[in-house]
Order: sequence, then structure tokens, then C-alpha cells
Amino acid sequence: MSSGTLQSLLAAFDPEVPLERASTIPNTWYTSPDVYALERDAVFAHTWQMVGRRERVARPGQFLTADVAGEPVLVVRGEDGTLRAFFNVCRHRAARVCTDECGTATKLRCHYHGWTYDLAGNLRGVPEFDGVENFRREDNGLPAVAVAEWGPFVWVHLTPPREPHGAAVKPGSAGDRLRGSLDTFLGPLVSWAETRKAFDGLKWYARRSYDLACNWKVYADNYLDGGYHVNTVHPALAGALDYREYRTVCDGHTVLQSAPTKPSEGDTGRTRTGDAAYWWLYPNFMLNSYAGVMDTNLVLPLAVDRCRVVFDFYFADAVGEEFKRQSVDVAEQVQQEDIGVCEEVQRNLSGRSYTTGRFSAKRENGGHYFHQMLGRELQSAERGTRNAE
Ligand code: FES
Ligand SMILES: [Fe+2]
Repeated sequence: MSSGTLQSLLAAFDPEVPLERASTIPNTWYTSPDVYALERDAVFAHTWQMVGRRERVARPGQFLTADVAGEPVLVVRGEDGTLRAFFNVCRHRAARVCTDECGTATKLRCHYHGWTYDLAGNLRGVPEFDGVENFRREDNGLPAVAVAEWGPFVWVHLTPPREPHGAAVKPGSAGDRLRGSLDTFLGPLVSWAETRKAFDGLKWYARRSYDLACNWKVYADNYLDGGYHVNTVHPALAGALDYREYRTVCDGHTVLQSAPTKPSEGDTGRTRTGDAAYWWLYPNFMLNSYAGVMDTNLVLPLAVDRCRVVFDFYFADAVGEEFKRQSVDVAEQVQQEDIGVCEEVQRNLSGRSYTTGRFSAKRENGGHYFHQMLGRELQSAERGTRNAE
């Protein structure tokens, strides 16, 4: 597809139309490989991305690996206590250096031909390279990626992140500058977590991953519909939420959906109490909180029509094993219900009848906000590419 066609696909959506008159982004944005390729750069390489849990890289030598929209990343705590991140791509033939999901190491040894890097990313060992000319180890370290810690999470930014006044922060910069950039990106989520002491006493319990046959945005849209589908798709959850009090607030890179819970039957009623807060962070991270219960959902794009949703479950210390199991079961039930509608939507977005749809002005301001942000980002990135040509 020529860039002219990508340009016309993107031009089919006007992000400045207000909610009451707006339509969704068109179906082609969920099916076009060119839009998907643009998103990998303009969205996923230009946002802070959650890549793992902080406790996994708490001690010197501990590392974790992740994949950010197809880019392998390695996060490692150095002997000096500094947390660093790199592209997990060997300078020799582009194999991944570390293939384990996490672990502890004194050096990083590429699994392909055995080149070794130290924990600061410097190339140290190069087997059988005598006689190679114009080759300097110091020019062949692992490329650094910006990394910062917030809450129980580790975050990376594949391109140099920006400070509030717009200056780019180098990946290896002092931690507080990177943390400042991350805090700005997280916006109201930071003060919410501080005020609520949202992470105090929470412990990670389990992870579940789901592969979905849908574009990553279908999952985000479904999450952001302001509770519009709760009564129809999630009958058990509907019983536990005070739907009349359900609110959606859009601010910065976040959308917060919240509602008080109400007493209800069964595992859902037992495990869903207090105030429900559903945070979405542009573009692909969700944090769901109830009294003593939190889970995060990370939506990993795998292909234009496939994504993986990774759930991490956290519970308050005092919570018993039985409660935890029931709570995870409740989340899994809701997830299975969501998977059904998401995959059905993707099939029909690829069909011949549907191009765009309208938004409920009462409920769907969050989804519209997402489309506005995405539309602006993609259109401006595509304009930038064209101007540079
Ligand atoms: S690709 Fe890493 S040593 Fe060859
Ligand atoms: Fe849902």
C-alpha cells in the first residue's frame, strides 16, 4: 500500500469532532497492516510501557525481559544498584541476548554465538574475533532504553521520552529525570495511588495470559465503553456495581471509570467490594481496583488481528487463599465474556457491512477520548513521515 493510501485511511477520521457528533475510527484501522505498522512506532515506541514487576529486579543481577510491540527489551539491575534497560538484541546477528523471562545473572551471554555483555550493557567477551579489523568492543554495547519505576511496576520508553517542557531525556539519564517524565505521563494516576495508598500491603499473586483474535484496540474499546456492556455481557458483575453511579473521567493519558459497589450474591459479591476504580492508561495498560483486590491488564499487540492480554492479580496481605481463588475466577469469567464479544467484533470489522459507529454521549466519552488521542497521534506521525520524504 502506498503512503497515499495510508494517508487517506487516516484522513477518514476527524479527531476534533465532539462526542455528540462523533463516529468511531473506521474499521480499516483495525485491519490494515499499514496502520498497525504506524502504531508500533507512533504509539508503542512513543509511550511509557509497563514491562514487568519491580520486585523481579529488586536485587543486583536480577533481570526481566519483555516484548514491546515486537521490540525485545531487557531490564537489569546493575551491581551498582542502578536499574538499566536495553534492546535485548545482540550486536552480532540480532539474536536475543537473554531468552529467559526473568532471572539473576552476573553477565549477559547471548544464546546464539556466546558474546557476553556486562550488566551495564558493555560488550565484554567476543569469542574467536582475533584478526577482525576496525572492530571496537566499546562501540558494540547494547543500545540503552529509558527505564523508570513507579508503583509495583517497571516501565520503559523505546524512544527518548520527553520532559514536560519538551526536551528529550537520554535513555541513560539520571533516574529522577526519567521518573519525572513517567510521572507526567501517568498524570492523575499518580495522585490517586498516593491518596488511596493503593499499592500499600498489596502482594502479587498470579498471572494469566489470554490470546485474542482481535486487534488490540478492540479490547481497549471494550474496556472504555463506560460500563455500557456490563449489564448485557457481564450479568454477575452487573449485580455488584451501582451502575447509576458509574462515572467516566478523561484526563491526560488516562481514563478513570469508577462506581461504588453494592451488596450482591456469590463470588462476585464477596470479592468485589468498596469503590471500583478502572484506570486505563494510553494506549494499552489497565489497572482495576476494589477493596483489597487489584489486577492489571496489559494488552500486547501481536499482529493486526491478534493481541495478548496479560492479567496480574494482586491482593492485600490479610486476604485468604480461598478469597484469592474466587476473585481470580470472577475475573476469568468476565474475561471470557469479553473475549467472546471482542473476537466477534473483529470478525465483523473485517466484513463488508460496517465502517464506523456512533457513541453514546452519556456512556462512551472514554472510548471517544481514546480515538481522539490515537487519531491525533497517528495523523501527526504520518504527516511527519511525509514531510521528511
Ligand atoms: S547473535 Fe549474539 S553472539 Fe551471535
Ligand atoms: Fe467487559
